[in-house]
Amino acid sequence: MKIVLLGPPGAGKGTQAKSISNRYSILHISTGDIFRKNISENTPLGVEAKRYMDNGQLVPDEVTINMVKDRLKQDDCKNGYLLDGFPRTVHQAEALDEFLCSRGESLSTSLLIEVPTDFILERMTGRRVCPSCGASYHVKFNPPTKDGKCSVCGSEVIQRKDDTVETVQERLDVYQKQTQPLIDFYKAKNKLSVVDGTKAINEVFEDICKILD
Ligand code: AP5
Ligand code: MG
Ligand code: ZN
Repeated sequence: MKIVLLGPPGAGKGTQAKSISNRYSILHISTGDIFRKNISENTPLGVEAKRYMDNGQLVPDEVTINMVKDRLKQDDCKNGYLLDGFPRTVHQAEALDEFLCSRGESLSTSLLIEVPTDFILERMTGRRVCPSCGASYHVKFNPPTKDGKCSVCGSEVIQRKDDTVETVQERLDVYQKQTQPLIDFYKAKNKLSVVDGTKAINEVFEDICKILD
């Protein structure tokens, strides 16, 4: 199974990706997580990505596409994967199609987690993430342990640097201009499934399972 997760910032892509990856035993590949790991290790890729991410802008296509292709060529991708946060532009989606086609493969489906803008600010500003294992929490909707530790691995959870009100607004604008066109892109290929992302986390997951089962 090869799946693309679509949806605005804060839709719950990362949250659902963890559960999907567990249930269907497929690899979860988040471009945002890869960039953040590179930033924390201060690699050249991290230094470049940080310039864009801190402002809520997209990292340039060429950088992102090459990074993802390299990742998808690795052995652990053989049993399928779930792409979270990629593609994010039509150019990236076309590059993914070409990559899959050149290997005689194809996408199973794209899965859009639909959430209107007015839900997003509360989700983003209340989000806490685990810097070690990447688990995502929310102070109100999905809290970590009482003393602010990750329930999966016990690390101290933190707030993402791009989860400020200004940067979230910019990320939403970028989403509408550059990523939203992918909904029509996949619809035209008959590869779009949609779930209502305003429901509770476990209900959204049940709806996703109904589609993927
Ligand atoms: P990325 O890390 O992908 O961020 P994003 O797309 O903005 O999405 P988020 O991770 O913010 O949201 P999410 O949908 O994963 O929500 P989550 O599950 O955490 O990208 C960051 C940056 O990297 C980009 O801005 C860009 O600069 C760069 N980048 C990445 N990929 C790129 C690409 N392909 N090309 C170019 N640049 C790229 O949930 C959010 C919160 O809501 C959490 O607190 C969660 O607990 C809560 N929540 C989730 N579901 C529910 C629910 N159903 N009800 C209530 N609360 C919920
Ligand atoms: Mg995410
Ligand atoms: Zn953790």
